[in-house]
Parts: sequence; C-alpha cells; structure tokens
Amino acid sequence: MAKLNPIDMAKYVSARRALDYVEDGMRIGLGTGSTAAWMVRCLGDMVREDGLRVTGVPTSSRTAELAREVGVPIATLEDVKWLDLTIDGADEFDDDLALIKGGGGALLQEKIVATASDMMVVITDPGKKVDTLGAFPLPVEVIPFGWQTTKALIEESLVGMDVGGRSTTLRLNRDAPFRTDEGNLILDLHLRRIGNPRQLSLLLNQIPGVVENGLFLDICDVVVVGAADGSVELRDVNNGTVRQERVDLEAEDNLFTDVTD
Ligand code: A5P
Repeated sequence: MAKLNPIDMAKYVSARRALDYVEDGMRIGLGTGSTAAWMVRCLGDMVREDGLRVTGVPTSSRTAELAREVGVPIATLEDVKWLDLTIDGADEFDDDLALIKGGGGALLQEKIVATASDMMVVITDPGKKVDTLGAFPLPVEVIPFGWQTTKALIEESLVGMDVGGRSTTLRLNRDAPFRTDEGNLILDLHLRRIGNPRQLSLLLNQIPGVVENGLFLDICDVVVVGAADGSVELRDVNNGTVRQERVDLEAEDNLFTDVTD
C-alpha cells in the first residue's frame, strides 16, 4: 500500500488540522479544489466512523458529488441560511490573510458560502504564501452576454490601477470556454502584482457583466499551512498569532496515491 506523494500529504495534513475546528451539529461550508477534497473525505470518515453529525453546504457540483460519495449529509445555503464554519482551499494568501481564489472556477459560490459563515478556515500548502497577491492570475466570473465588451472594460479599468500587468484571457476547458456551475465564463487577469486589492475588487465588481472576482478580503479568519512531514502552521488573523504544531500521522496507514480530486 503506497503512501501519498508529498504534495497530497501536505494537503491532507492541513485538511486534518482544519477539521479540529468542527463540532457536533455544525453547518459547514465545503470548499472546492484538491485540498478541500481531502477535507471532505476526512469529514466523511468522521461522519461514518465517529458518528459526527454535521450538515455540509457544498460550493460546487464537484464537491456536492464527493460529499454524497463519502457520506457527508448536504443541504443548500437556501435551506440552512447561515453557517458556523467554512473550510476551503486558496490559490494565494498574504500576511493579512487576503486570498486569491477561483483557480477551480468555483469562486462565486465559495465567496457567498464563506461570507455566510461565522468563520472561514483556509487550508493550503507553503507554496501559496506570497508577500503581495497577484502572481496567480486573478479569476473574474463574467456573464456570457457581451463578455468581450466586459473584457475590454476590465482591461481599460486596469490602466489606472496599481498592478504589474494587464493582460486578460478567457479560461478554456480543452478547446471550449470553461463554464462555471452558473453557466458563466471566467476571465483570468494576469496582474503579476496587485498593489491595492481592495480598490481593485471594488472596481471590478462595478463593471457591468462582472458577477464576482476572486479576491477574498476580510473573509478568512485562519490559514492552516500543512507540510508533508505533519507539521502545520496556524495563522490566525483575529488573534494576530502564528503557531507551529504537528498532526499525528502515526495511525495513517491507508492513504493511497490514486485518490484524485
Ligand atoms: C476553487 O475555485 C478554488 O478557489 C480553490 O479553492 C483553489 O483553486 C485551491 O485549489 P487547490 O486546493 O486544488 O489548490
């Protein structure tokens, strides 16, 4: 039985530690992406093996499918209205726990669900910590109607912004435009450096055709940075603390390499 590769092990470690925030009876936002998928699998184990009672609100059709597969009871946000906790991945985070999300195209539901939660815990690996956001292309969800006009308006607006690049590309899925769960399109903004994320986020969301952007500002409470050796760094923006811990991996003998997102 093969062990996980180091990248998946780091994701698994952060997911495991983040689940310590879960309490019986909680309503939990379930993020999207490869790291969040580990969290959903581990949560499934806790439901099936330990009798944990939770309600999960998935942030994508992919996550909903996985939650069903592993036995996590799910509901819609309309059903539960407010959540205790959301656990999700991110593409980048900085010292203030500002995030770029949407690499998996689920940023709209992710932002709605995270904002509806008392607490957001983000699970990452060390490669996602940056001094300044923007190396990862910023995803912007736009409606298909007139998307080329929206793209041109975005590019024009970027001229006055403190950013390191201004090119934008339509996200593709093979040869066709990538479609979100809402049937929208994603424009990826190759900004290299975002000098003022708050100003940029406000500006983008004012452009007709823009549904939402992938900047998550003042939403995340804690970032859990896992490493393959079981060590974790916990960054808590409310307490202003950075703590080092370990996840006990002794009993983990059934982790396969063939588990995919
Ligand atoms: C999904 O739309 C994203 O916001 C993901 O949370 C983000 O891309 C992180 O994904 P990974 O955990 O796969 O890196």
